[in-house]
Amino acid sequence: MKNMNKKMLDYNIVLIGFMGAGKSTVSAYLNKEYGMEVIEMDQVIAEREKMSISDIFAVHGEEYFRNLETNLLIEMQFQTNKVISCGGGVAMRDRNVKEMKKNGRVVLLTAAPETILERVKDSDDRPLLNGHKDVDYIGGLMEVRRPKYEAASDIVVSTDQKRVSEICEEMMQKLKEMDEKDV
Ligand code: S3P
Repeated sequence: MKNMNKKMLDYNIVLIGFMGAGKSTVSAYLNKEYGMEVIEMDQVIAEREKMSISDIFAVHGEEYFRNLETNLLIEMQFQTNKVISCGGGVAMRDRNVKEMKKNGRVVLLTAAPETILERVKDSDDRPLLNGHKDVDYIGGLMEVRRPKYEAASDIVVSTDQKRVSEICEEMMQKLKEMDEKDV
């Protein structure tokens, strides 16, 4: 019951950022230490479709997958105090950003391409990186995406060389400052 004294948020925390930026790790920590329920978008979509993300891309195509992401975000607007861990491409659609902001504070997690490569190199469920697991490709795609990520975010937390506890404390502090400004 150690989580009972943590304040319930009247909004959702929406985690965005590149593949391997740490969204799932941060989500797991928030679940364990803050008792917050996590919606891991990729996982929910894979469970509902009864297929891996790679198979959804292969069978139905990327557009189909992107539409599932949008619909799930809309569904989540009616929830509070949840952590929504977005797939890396979610913030690329302006519509998605609009939907996530309706009831969410958007937290951008960042990391250097070298860090990302280290974190994703053994994963085979990231179809966009298949055959491209190198720093140049990752850095290039990251640069293309950076403007959208930054425009979508309310706060930014760098994850390089930090423990997950430090990342979460920094994030919670920044969210608190944002709440205080709002009142
Ligand atoms: C994607 C990121 C993945 C997954 C899909 C597409 C992207 O999620 O949604 O492979 O476009 O960046 P993670 O960021 O959790 O790896």
